[in-house]
Amino acid sequence: MTDTALTPAEPLVLGIESSCDETGVGIVRGNELLAHEVASSVDLHVRYGGVVPEVAARAHLEAMVPTLERACQTAGVDLSDLDGIAVTAGPGLMGALVVGLSTAKALAAWLDKPLYGVNHLAGHVAVDLLDHGPLPTPCIALLVSGGHTSLLLVEDIATTITELGATIDDAAGEAYDKVARLLGLAYPGGPVIDKAAQLGDPKAIHFPRGLTARHDLEKHRFDFSFSGLKTAVARWVELRQRDGLDVPVNDVCASFQEAVADVLTRKAVDAAQFHGVNHMLIGGGVAANSRLRGLLEERTAAAGIELRRPRPALCTDNGAMIAALGAQVIKAGGRPSSLDISANSGLPVSTILV
Ligand code: KG4
Ligand code: ZN
Repeated sequence: MTDTALTPAEPLVLGIESSCDETGVGIVRGNELLAHEVASSVDLHVRYGGVVPEVAARAHLEAMVPTLERACQTAGVDLSDLDGIAVTAGPGLMGALVVGLSTAKALAAWLDKPLYGVNHLAGHVAVDLLDHGPLPTPCIALLVSGGHTSLLLVEDIATTITELGATIDDAAGEAYDKVARLLGLAYPGGPVIDKAAQLGDPKAIHFPRGLTARHDLEKHRFDFSFSGLKTAVARWVELRQRDGLDVPVNDVCASFQEAVADVLTRKAVDAAQFHGVNHMLIGGGVAANSRLRGLLEERTAAAGIELRRPRPALCTDNGAMIAALGAQVIKAGGRPSSLDISANSGLPVSTILV
């Protein structure tokens, strides 16, 4: 633990994020957001229909310094004023993580500032306090993105997070991207399917709800599975084409989306009720989905659970979420990381600080 007498009440923290295809740099003072700059390499991945790790790593290298400079300018702070430098240590793509981690280490060594290697998933939870103030605890967090789908029990954002469940195969956003691809729609698939679904009938086709059968619930009550759903959509489309029939794309999108939103919301509310928690938070790119938001609002309200959702720009990967988590860790007296820490692509969410 650091000497709390030296810990500023509202630390000024720089956060660096590079776990996937977004180079993010954020600056916060305690719970206050001062700068939030993101450079995305999504356009470079479009023709591959998914993130190519080597392409993402190279893009981080090119974007890191300009993004850092923009963040400092926006916040009007000098790097020498910082109380700490927080960086995503994992989970994520190895080559991509290394770029952010090396940058943060170099800055920490050069400026003689403490380094905090933190968990990306915990950052997705912490970011909400920049919009809505201190987190209510305990709280259930539903994280849904292209890389992760998990249900977390958050008792203390700086020290105690338990993973209640996670996807056993594809992440929810990954399922959106794969279904979009098989329907010939653009990448990333989430926003495109969300739009098409508004013109379709969610009851047109009944697609499977992964891990909701009684025998699955025994072992996987709070886990998710989306690969069977993706395969079911692919088979349904293939059969239509084999029979020479048109594929009703809007109905397929609406029915697929209904299956995803139904399972995510059902399990999230069940987790809150099971653990006697009446606060829920949602994060990750898929948190922008209109049906997921609508159904979750409906079901949490019916269950007497208060729902918090950061603004969409803070739901997707960014540096502000890492800075926000870093500030909480510093306030809790967390020990700075060694300059020797390594990136960990499989870092468990229970390890908030490396
Ligand atoms: O959090 P994020 O920006 O990056 C990571 O994967 O960590 O999430 C990106 C994912 C993509 O799979 C994208 O298709 C999905 O979020 N997404 C959506 C929507 N907007 C983005 N999925 C469903 N509905 C949306 N409106
Ligand atoms: Zn993420």
